[in-house]
Amino acid sequence: MTQDDDKRAAAEAAVAEVQPDMLVGLGTGSTVRFAIEALGRRVADGLRVTAVATSLDSAARAAALGIVVRDFAEVARVDLTIDGADEVDDRLWAIKGAGGAMLREKIVAAASTRMVVIADASKRVTAIGGVKLPVEVLPFARGYVTDRLAMLDATVTVRDGVTDNCNIVLDARFAAFPDAPALAGALDATPGVLGHGLFLDQVDATYVADRGIVTRLER
Ligand code: A5P
Repeated sequence: MTQDDDKRAAAEAAVAEVQPDMLVGLGTGSTVRFAIEALGRRVADGLRVTAVATSLDSAARAAALGIVVRDFAEVARVDLTIDGADEVDDRLWAIKGAGGAMLREKIVAAASTRMVVIADASKRVTAIGGVKLPVEVLPFARGYVTDRLAMLDATVTVRDGVTDNCNIVLDARFAAFPDAPALAGALDATPGVLGHGLFLDQVDATYVADRGIVTRLER
């Protein structure tokens, strides 16, 4: 049983939640790719659904499998979103954004009636905060936001390239992870910060696979 087998098992368990005529939100990352494949198979078998995607990559993969991908700008509500995470704990708090899609992911999650996270067991932690926190920043605000993050005791790395939104990502490493709601509040209140990878209220359930056994946890 490989890590990819577990990613696939978690993904397939979540895709089993998809019902006919749903508008499905597709997250981003290697675990979600298995969900897109599983959904593509169900669509090929006759399931009628439409989707919105949180990244250009996921949109292209879904469309290539015959899934109708709608422009999220034309959408107000999503029925079910399936997304990955870099860390998730049993409070259903997650850190996301290693793939740089956290801003669109959070918007789509907010629009979703239900958002589930799929992961292999390596992502499950006692308490989030062990990985770098990605922060999407308007390029104009790079110096200011870097300084604000340093004041919060973070060491900041500027990621190469830009996001699908043409912004930059600052990866913030905290020696001691701060109180997560307070940190999210501080980031949300910082001009120039457009999004960040702390998902504290958005996740309704997780599917975590460990050596082939999938466990679902509900909020
Ligand atoms: C994308 O920006 C991220 O939020 C991903 O959902 C997260 O990094 C999980 O990706 P993997 O499934 O590739 O680990």
